[in-house]
Parts: sequence; structure tokens; C-alpha cells
Amino acid sequence: MKSIILALSALTLAVLPSYKATATDAGAPWWKSGVVYQIYPRSFQDTNGDGIGDLKGITQRLDYLKNLGVDAVWISPFYPSPMKDFGYDVTNFTDVDPRFGTLADFDTLVAEMHKRGLRLVMDFVPNHSSDEHPWFVESRSSKDNPKRDWYIWRDGRSANQPPNNWLSVFSGSSWTYDPTTSQYYYHAFLKEQPDLNWHNPELRTVMLSAMRFWLERGVDGFRIDGISHTMEDAALLDEPADPKYKDTMPEFDKNLHVYTTEQPSNHSVVREMRKLCDQYPGERALITEAYITFEQQAAYYGTPEAPEAQLPFNFHLISADWTAASVAKVVAEYEAALPTHGWPNWVLSNHDKHRLGTRLPHGQARIAAMVLLTLRGTPTLYYADELGVKDVVVPPELAQDPVELKTPGKGFGRDPERAPMLWDATANAGFTTGTPWLPLEPDYVTLNAEAQDSDSQSMLSLYKTLLKLRRATPALNVGSYKQVAANEGVFAFIREADGQKFFVALNFTDKPATVTLGDLFGHVAFTSVMDQVGQSVAGALELRPNEGVVIKLD
Ligand code: NOJ
Repeated sequence: MKSIILALSALTLAVLPSYKATATDAGAPWWKSGVVYQIYPRSFQDTNGDGIGDLKGITQRLDYLKNLGVDAVWISPFYPSPMKDFGYDVTNFTDVDPRFGTLADFDTLVAEMHKRGLRLVMDFVPNHSSDEHPWFVESRSSKDNPKRDWYIWRDGRSANQPPNNWLSVFSGSSWTYDPTTSQYYYHAFLKEQPDLNWHNPELRTVMLSAMRFWLERGVDGFRIDGISHTMEDAALLDEPADPKYKDTMPEFDKNLHVYTTEQPSNHSVVREMRKLCDQYPGERALITEAYITFEQQAAYYGTPEAPEAQLPFNFHLISADWTAASVAKVVAEYEAALPTHGWPNWVLSNHDKHRLGTRLPHGQARIAAMVLLTLRGTPTLYYADELGVKDVVVPPELAQDPVELKTPGKGFGRDPERAPMLWDATANAGFTTGTPWLPLEPDYVTLNAEAQDSDSQSMLSLYKTLLKLRRATPALNVGSYKQVAANEGVFAFIREADGQKFFVALNFTDKPATVTLGDLFGHVAFTSVMDQVGQSVAGALELRPNEGVVIKLD
């Protein structure tokens, strides 16, 4: 705010419809009141000089996470893997890849996290294994192998023709011919990631006991990979073409995935997982990953009698146009679609999407941080977004991601958002003493965490300050949400709990904007410029370009 215009107007504040805003319970479970931080373990901290991050590295950086002010850490896969899809191709669901460390390192990590009051969420990959998993090696060996039915095998439609037109998310047919038994196997992703058959009771039991293995070792929850793809329709009919397809889109988008995604039986899998988690104390939580409609997301909460995930990931802000009107619309539609027993959550980026700093209009990264941390719902923050980093340019000869390798140069590759964390101004930003597996952000000397920590107005300081305010303020972490009418370009809302009210106003434009407060008044609790805290405000406030403010109403 540049200036504070004192109250003249006695206008009544126009409040838009409010939504099931009841969660003011002080003793809310961690997955409700907390903030999740995603670590891509290859890129966080290397301790053995191989250029790849490891579990010991995460343990070494726990104080950073504690000081940042997050509550839980979700770590992308560290299972043994040939790394065709960087750990999402698993050869053993109950071990640690030697590149990341050992089970003992894992146990140390859990213990050190719990000592600091941090929760650990593991990635769990139920849809597929690696083609090098011993189960698949057995399954492909003969049609009557006991593990044949643990995967999905079918005859071709005719000679050299896959069973149907189903497509892989990563392009091409999702069926691969295997000459040993002259049948095709199904893979929603790479051919090196054959789909597991969750209709098979033995497979189900074995996968659930893998989850049990980690629950016993103390994990606080799982992020369930690719839940949409778990089940397929048995009739194997061709999928219809999507009339909205354009050739700038990934090939997968050519079809409507009515038989390969979001089958109702997916829910029985999540229900079983939840039942298992609920056998353990301490609110073990499930976070499901799926790019789906609000209604489909709502279904992944299950029912109060048969609950599923606590946090079905909500990715809608990732694809929203970054304007006040469309972000407000996403929030309204999401809030309206939530079941009464469902707690919201928000995600702005992850290891599959281009970095926030690259996607957003110039100057909006601070507004994005405020959206993530002040809306009603559990935020998931992607590592290094707190430094305001952008995508790193990865030259074709250094490309690693299978998506980039299969569809080069189209902008679908995921390497740019997976670059190493920037710790300090030393060589390789303190990430490794070896050669980093992906190139580093060239501006790391100024962008790194250590440098930003000593600048009270840096992006890192903004995240820390806002996380602290959020933690100390029930209204901001578990309070109700009401959108407030505001001028074009501004998204404004009120969060309230225990009689305390906070007014949040976010300027999505690069022009100044005035927000009418009517008869409300209060004090500045936070501004994205990191100044003016404590100043009194009444009647109206003037936002600077790209500025967001939080006002504690009196
Ligand atoms: C979603 C994961 O986030 C992505 O990185 C991975 O490639 C696919 N699932 C397949 O496991």
C-alpha cells in the first residue's frame, strides 16, 4: 500500500456467498493446519559427490525446512529404480535406491524429522512398477506364471495390431508387444512402466503390505501417484477422439480417456489404503494425485463412513489464467464442489509443471505465494519456489526427462523445473561437490537461500514471514473463507476464526488499485513488499502494482 486513505465511506462491504466455512478447530490435524513442502530428492542436496541428491542430504537440511516454517515434507520416489522415469519406475517397493542411500538413512531421516516436529510423506506408486521389477520379469516369462495376472496382458487385435487405440500419457500406444508370449502388456506411462493389475487380489495384498512396511517405519502419509490410471475398463473398447484436440497438445490428449482413467473402482483402492492408514496412530494421511474435474476430485474424499484421501490434490490453479477474476472463479468453483466433510488444498507447482516464476506474468510471484498461503486449505509448496526461481534452460544434449527424450523440443519436458536447489554462493550453489545431474540456475550467486536469508525483503523472507503469520493465526490456517467484491484486477477475501478476521487483497495487475473497505478498519499484518506492518487502515486501501496485503480487522 502506498497510501492509506482514511475512512470516509460507510458503504457496506459486499460479501459474496460464503462456503461451508466451519473449520476453526484449534486441534486440527497436521494435514489440515500444516503446510506441505515437496522435495524432488535428486535435486535437493547431494552428500556423496555423485551429482544426485540423497536422503542424507535431506536430513542435513532439515533445519532449513524447520526455519522456513513448513510442517510436512513429501519426498518424490527414492525406491530402487532403473530411473527411466527417475524413480517412478520401481523395482522394489520396500527399499531405498543406493543412489539415495539406505533404509538406515531413511530411518535416521524419519527420526530427525519427528524430533523437529516435521511429518514425512512418501510417494507411493500403485499404478505401475518398473519392467525390471522381479514381478514383471516373472510375469512376462510365461502365460501360466503365477504372476502373469499381476500385470495386464492381452492378445493383439490382429497381427501387429495392439488390442485397441489406448494411448500412453508419454506418447505412442500404451500397449507393448512382448515376443516371449506373443501378447501385449499395458502401460499408461513408459513401456518400462508396466501397469499393475489391481483386480488381482494377491497383487493388492502385496502392494498394501508395502505401504504397511513404511507405516511401520514411521511415515506420516503417502502421496499416491497417478491414481486416475489405477483401473481400466475390462471390455477394452477403443477410446473416442477428443474433438478439442490440437496438434500443439501432447498426443495423449487426442482421445477422451473414458476407459483408462477415473474408473469407479479406483475408489475401492483408495478406500483400502485409507483403512490401512487409519490402523495407525497419528493421523497418517493420503494425498491423491490426479488432474481431474472438481467433481471427480470431490469423490476422492470418499464419504464419512468410507473415507478415502484427506487431500485429493487440487491442481486447478496451475492451469488457471493468472487474473484476479479467473483465480477467484477457481476458488469459488472448488469451494462449491467440496463435500461438507472435505478439507481443501492448493498446489501451484510440482516436478511435472513448469516453474511458477516462468508461468506467471512478470511481478506476480509474490501474489502467487500469498494465494497459496492465505486461501482456505492445505498448501503444497514445491522446493525452491520459496526462492522465486524460474525454469532452468536445459540444452538438448543434457536432457534427462523421458518425456523430453520421446517428444524433444515441444516444451513438454520436465527437466527445467527439476534443477538443483540453490543453497549458497559456493560452487554448484552448495548442492554438490560433483557434477550436478541437471544444470543449475545461472543466477544462483544472488538467488540462493543463504543470500536471500540475509535480505529482509527477499522472496525467501516473504515466505518465512507469511508462513509464520499463518502458523500463529487460526483464521489463516483453519479459518473460514468469504470472497469480497473488489475492483477488476483485485482478488479480495476475508478469513475468520475464533472472532478474529483477516482481510486479504491481492492486486493481480501491474497498475495501482484501490480497494474499498466500507466500514471495516484494522492494521496491516503483512504486505508483499514487506513493509508498513502495524499501520492502521480504514475505509479504503491503495495497493501498489502487483501488491498483496493482509489486514487484521479490528
Ligand atoms: C505422476 C508423476 O508426478 C510423474 O512425475 C510420473 O512421471 C508419472 N506420475 C508416472 O509415475
